Amino acid sequence: MMKRIAVFTSGGDSPGMNACIRAVVRTAVYHGIEVYGIMRGYSGMIKGEFVRLDSASVANTIQKGGTILKSARSQKFTTKEGRQQAFDQLVNNGIEGLIAIGGNGTFTGATIFEQEFGIPTVGAPGTIDNDLYGTDYTIGYDTAVNTALEAIDKIRDTADSHDRCFFVEVMGRDSGYIAIPCAIGGGAEIVMVPETQMSTESVIDTLQSSWQRSKTSFIVVVAEGEVEGNAQIVAQRVKEAIPQLDTRVTVIGHIQRGGSPSAADRMLASQIGIAAVEGLLNGMRNVMAGIMNRQLVYTPFHDTIYKKKLINQSFMRMVEILSV
Ligand code: F6P
Repeated sequence: MMKRIAVFTSGGDSPGMNACIRAVVRTAVYHGIEVYGIMRGYSGMIKGEFVRLDSASVANTIQKGGTILKSARSQKFTTKEGRQQAFDQLVNNGIEGLIAIGGNGTFTGATIFEQEFGIPTVGAPGTIDNDLYGTDYTIGYDTAVNTALEAIDKIRDTADSHDRCFFVEVMGRDSGYIAIPCAIGGGAEIVMVPETQMSTESVIDTLQSSWQRSKTSFIVVVAEGEVEGNAQIVAQRVKEAIPQLDTRVTVIGHIQRGGSPSAADRMLASQIGIAAVEGLLNGMRNVMAGIMNRQLVYTPFHDTIYKKKLINQSFMRMVEILSV
């Protein structure tokens, strides 16, 4: 039985990370295990930034955005030398297992680390992007979508008042998971996501035919990772093709990463935090705890990284039908 574990957050922060840290800490306490927090992800691991956590350390955090452990993307951990230093710090501090809250990059680091040094890690999916295979939803996704949607509702008001076409860029480095519910929920005319390869020409065609049907204002949601280019580039090409269209661009940006987590994110983070610690104590390693079809599942890091979580193509059709 492990006696001491540590938890850290890494990569882009997401609403609900604190709720997950809280669940990890309290589950460890519940099982009589000592728990440490590692500040600033792998960077802090290399530098030995460890803090002892107890039940009281995570009081009054479930509702807070960001991460009390802070987060970072560490270049040094990508080197063998950096990982050796991190391992030495863990050994010196008696840490036998890790809970990693993060996304793809976090789990890639954990996999290499385990192969080289044998430190068992269980992951919790903490990213707004929802692009991880092995869980229906990631911690922070629901809140981020609602934040973006609230912004789109406001943009729609002004788009309507001025008969304008807004190109709204939402986050999602490689995926359209945030963009799609924003488009459906925000009543957008078009959604552009990296998974579907919609051409700018077809966006122009759709806008032209909507214009001819007397529509006067439009919302085009563009995922950050769209292959045709970002919202600015797409808007510029559309403007060149339809000069009479009064176009504007809004990049919603990092407000999607902050704020108090939604009820769904607090619930998910709490469930996964408990499952991650209990998985680790039961001998699991190199797996991510997730919820699929309402069931708790543990998926090997390898699959979470390399298997593609596909978007539901029928959602694209929904946007088309609902914007008629
Ligand atoms: O992975 C989460 C995410 O917000 C992506 O959607 C986005 O591409 C990226 O992080 C931005 O990272 P940074 O905050 O480092 O600019």
